[in-house]
Amino acid sequence: MKRAVETSSEQPLIAKGELAQESWPVVQPPMPRKPQYFLCGNLCGCCPPYILLALVLGGLAALLGFPGLSIFFMIVFSFLVVCGCPLASFYIFTRLWACPPWNWTAGLYVKLTYLAFQSVLIGRPTPTADKDMPVNKMKPKAVLAKNTIEYALNISVPKGSEEEFSNDSLVNGQIVQFLEESLSNLPQFESFEEFAEGEDPVEYIMTQLGSVFPEVYQVWTDKQSDKALTRFCLQGIGAHRIEIEEYCGRKMYVVKTNSALAGLPVREGFEHYGGDAYFDMRWNPVAIIDNGLHPAEPDGTPNPVVTQPGELGWDRAKFRFRSSLSVLVTVVDHLYGIHLQTANLFTTALREQLSPDHPMRRFFTPFTYQTISVNDNARNNLVQMRSIAPRCFGFTDQGMQLAFSAAPSLLKTGLEVSAEEGGPIFDRVKYIEYLKKQGIDTEYYRQSAELAIIMKKFIRSYMEYYYPTMEEALADPELAAFFGQFMHQVEFVKPTALTHSTSKEEEMKRALFNDLAPAAGAGLSCIAGGGQSPQANDKKPARDARATYELYLDIFTQFMFLVTAGHEQVGAVEAYVQDAAFCAFKWTPGSLVGTKQTATCQGLLMSFTSTPMPKLLGENWTHLFPSPTKPPKPGVKTASQVFTTFQEELAAMSKKCQEYNDTASSRAFPDNVPMYVLDPARLETSISV
Ligand SMILES: [Fe+2]
Repeated sequence: MKRAVETSSEQPLIAKGELAQESWPVVQPPMPRKPQYFLCGNLCGCCPPYILLALVLGGLAALLGFPGLSIFFMIVFSFLVVCGCPLASFYIFTRLWACPPWNWTAGLYVKLTYLAFQSVLIGRPTPTADKDMPVNKMKPKAVLAKNTIEYALNISVPKGSEEEFSNDSLVNGQIVQFLEESLSNLPQFESFEEFAEGEDPVEYIMTQLGSVFPEVYQVWTDKQSDKALTRFCLQGIGAHRIEIEEYCGRKMYVVKTNSALAGLPVREGFEHYGGDAYFDMRWNPVAIIDNGLHPAEPDGTPNPVVTQPGELGWDRAKFRFRSSLSVLVTVVDHLYGIHLQTANLFTTALREQLSPDHPMRRFFTPFTYQTISVNDNARNNLVQMRSIAPRCFGFTDQGMQLAFSAAPSLLKTGLEVSAEEGGPIFDRVKYIEYLKKQGIDTEYYRQSAELAIIMKKFIRSYMEYYYPTMEEALADPELAAFFGQFMHQVEFVKPTALTHSTSKEEEMKRALFNDLAPAAGAGLSCIAGGGQSPQANDKKPARDARATYELYLDIFTQFMFLVTAGHEQVGAVEAYVQDAAFCAFKWTPGSLVGTKQTATCQGLLMSFTSTPMPKLLGENWTHLFPSPTKPPKPGVKTASQVFTTFQEELAAMSKKCQEYNDTASSRAFPDNVPMYVLDPARLETSISV
């Protein structure tokens, strides 16, 4: 019940005529306490009609239950008559895969996933930018239907049905989608069968997965030596995670996994992850410090095991480190960083905020091609509980949740640079300069900078054709809405954002209280935490247009870089996971190779990540570029001319990359090996699963 509030002529807290909530009086429980069994209501006194009614209705339900149960059993019986033999035969057929020469030890879930993936892959032509991105198939700007991620992430992924180029076989129908999602309900069992001494784990999984395994273009003739460990970190899967640290009073390079993984729980029968690999300034291995072999003390003090080259346990330390790094890169950098954060949030904002004829929506169409389908597949098959990724890794469910929830703070993209050091850094070239000042100056980063410069020039020149001035770009409401959504969601994915204000909330709170301050007195602005009077706000200089525009370009460039070369760096892991003695996603205590089940599972997971997409170099997507709505400035190149220059520059860079690789053996250690993942000829325009 509500009643009208009396209002005064001065500053009414509630508007005249508005209703206020009644203040209901407090009621004490009856004392002494009496039991309540819900037998009768207020009107029935001592008569217990409810229990009598329940007896009558219960008898009736039991009578009706007989025909109901009979119908149920008839349906089950009919199903068994019709489908029992084929289903049982199929199940036994899959059990026979355990026989030579295939020797599968993986369960039914992995086998069905393999068959489903093979059916998608075989016969699927590699899509091309000029044929598979027709403008008339682009969908209108709209809020997309989404599914949430099961693990501890505040992230949603658009449903595969929202894909705009749905002729690709990667796009699931509703029945296939339902079946895929249901597959993860199949029971999970562990097989601890090990490789026999001398048994070749590469031959083992290629016999099983040869029909779906991608081309292994990265040549690793030596995987086990100390020099191979250097290559693994300097030019291989660790190249984007190199840090510099003082160790034993000396400056050293280090690639770490301890702080991210060593404390995470794993399933019974598997070892904990861990290992930080240290190198001197000439890239000779110095030591591996492993916090995962022995659990930390209850107060968090680690029990590190330090192993140096040549010592007993050195091979084991190297295997544990390599395997742990492959898990860290796959979970954090690949699944979370590239797929769920960068590609997912950018593509969602693009589709929800930019119209299909918007020049920037068109620009990014090749770079977001099939990303919705790919990420929905990743959600189904990789980041759903009991899906293939959790089965591959040794983590418990809690361990997987912890790994994903820590992922936002484990990425190495420039956002991790502290404010004291000039961060967060969105400009990839500036980030590489920042690393160089720290002492990290590697071929991986030199080629990264070259590619980022080409990409930034491409987007800058393209935007000059559609926006005569940068002020006009900043005044584009759709573009502003796109950046607003993307930046907010990148920040909001962190679990701490659920319990701590985001910067946008703080900004709005300050604005709100500053608006109220003239009426309520100066004190309110202090409550907001801003501590600035409205007058002070008036004097604040307008945000520098050039800086904002450059930020737009940096974010665009970063996205292009991450979904092409960034994805190649973390996703092109064929050579690593093909050999469970090189990198294993899980292994038993003391072992130097993953279990047979793990070898199959990680090979299949990796194959998932290698579905071919349109090539970055040699394709043509100029049909996507719309006519400008305003005449461009005189002398500005057309979008098609800009594209031609982009392709020419990529081709020139590719030639340099290939020359670098061809002359690798003529260089001294540690630069005597190839660098593959930045060669534009290897790159694709968008992420695969
Ligand atoms: Fe991927």
